[in-house]
Amino acid sequence: MAQAQPIPINRHPYADGGKKKMLIDGQWIDATSGKTFETHNPATGELLATVAEGDKPDIDKAVAAARRAFEGPWSKFTPFERQNLLLRFADLVERHFDELSTLDTLDMGAPLSRTRGGRLRVLGMLRFYAGQATSIHGETIENSLPGEIFSYTLKEPVGVVGAIIPWNSPLTASIWKIGPALATGCTVVLKPAEEAPLTPLRLGELALEAGVPPGVINVVPGYGETAGAALAAHPDVDKVAFTGSHLTGQAIVRASAGNLKRVSLELGGKSPDIVFADADIDAAVPGAAMAVFANSGQICSAGTRLFVEQRIYDEFVSKVAEFGKGLKVGNGLDPEVQIGPLVSQEQLTRVTSYFEVGQKEGASAVVGGSRLTEGKLDKGYFVPPTVFANVRDEMRIAQEEIFGPVISAISFDDPEELAKRANATNFGLGSGVWTRDVSKAHKFAKAIRAGSVWVNCYQAMDPAVPFGGYKMSGYGRESGIQHVEEYLNVKAVWIKTA
Ligand code: NAI
Ligand code: MG
Repeated sequence: MAQAQPIPINRHPYADGGKKKMLIDGQWIDATSGKTFETHNPATGELLATVAEGDKPDIDKAVAAARRAFEGPWSKFTPFERQNLLLRFADLVERHFDELSTLDTLDMGAPLSRTRGGRLRVLGMLRFYAGQATSIHGETIENSLPGEIFSYTLKEPVGVVGAIIPWNSPLTASIWKIGPALATGCTVVLKPAEEAPLTPLRLGELALEAGVPPGVINVVPGYGETAGAALAAHPDVDKVAFTGSHLTGQAIVRASAGNLKRVSLELGGKSPDIVFADADIDAAVPGAAMAVFANSGQICSAGTRLFVEQRIYDEFVSKVAEFGKGLKVGNGLDPEVQIGPLVSQEQLTRVTSYFEVGQKEGASAVVGGSRLTEGKLDKGYFVPPTVFANVRDEMRIAQEEIFGPVISAISFDDPEELAKRANATNFGLGSGVWTRDVSKAHKFAKAIRAGSVWVNCYQAMDPAVPFGGYKMSGYGRESGIQHVEEYLNVKAVWIKTA
């Protein structure tokens, strides 16, 4: 693959400080109110674009367009035609991948080394969903009724989907909603995060170019409390697919009650990552470190509660700290940078406030623990990889999602107690265990209440393998055949033949 070159933002055609409209019914239009908001590069503070600010009237228009599209020619697309459309879309995304990944980097800060590295996964997802389009099938079911009566099921698209996504991985999050919708024949109103609307808008453009009919994918940028809330409450939306914080997830469930729309929630976590003394330490150190430091900790399944067996605790924690210190922090457009800025001032305030919370609670930052401001870093929202040692289970830094590059290292010596301690959280998204003992790994995999268990690895993902939460990490699954089912209704048909 070609070496990524830094791109000056003022020359970037999609982040040139210009104005972005919203996509409704295949048309690029301004907000009904005429209002706009700005999106900035969190590494430099530079203005990237001024974006049409959607609100309730725009959501109403977009939902109406999505409903018309759902009932229009789109409903006549055969599975094979939807598959071909998704494959054409995937080809376009592939052709524009450098641009899309650069937009993610510009808009939310993740380094190119990460956004470009997602290439196979993003393309794999689109092509996986393309395959799913021709794999949807109901069943014929034997029944026990007297007389000749035949029963079977039909799988039908659930309808208009409101997709509300966060800023931590805009490209992946968008495709995780658009992919299953196109595979099943649903239509979408996508509400990007206000912090990072540029990649979803560009994807909308590529979808039109691929031949997605007008109204099938609408993209309405705007704020959560206005545009997001209007979408979640809309009486003509059949399903909301949400990724974000658990607090917003709760608001969405409440808002969904009006028409009892279907909801799927991919929320946050405080995932345990467990290192036994018998682990391959050379593999576990970078594995456990990047389970948290990747994307500056802005990953829902980050393994932020690092449980280390007592007799290797000091050695292991200092090696993780050393590894963290060696990571290059800076502007993500620099291809050597491994850790970019946090996405916003709000997130910076949040993460640095947890630095104080940790100190006050009696934990000690063995590396990091305060904002970085040297040189050009003072223009962005940079914090270093941080490791807190001497953390106890009940501390806030061991219980609350920080969403920054912050490890809370906790020691354990009783393996019997371990699963109970690992499960002592409201969340249940990811989990990891590092050991050479296969029976310990199996035992943990069964005992942990979380949607993913990674053994001797962390954050492995594949379009065919389901991902999602237990407990307050949400419900529903993304990826895997389960994901497509979330976008389908089941209809039972009875035919009396006698
Ligand atoms: P958020 O959950 O408020 O935002 C996510 C999306 O929901 C955005 O598109 C936002 O505009 C929308 N939204 C906000 N309020 C809404 C409402 N009342 N109705 C409908 N949509 C609404 O997350 P935020 O404020 O960006 O980050 C706060 C914290 O949430 C982070 O520090 C982190 O702990 C957590 N978070 C978790 C994510 C995950 O992947 N699990 C992603 C983003 C944030
Ligand atoms: Mg918010």
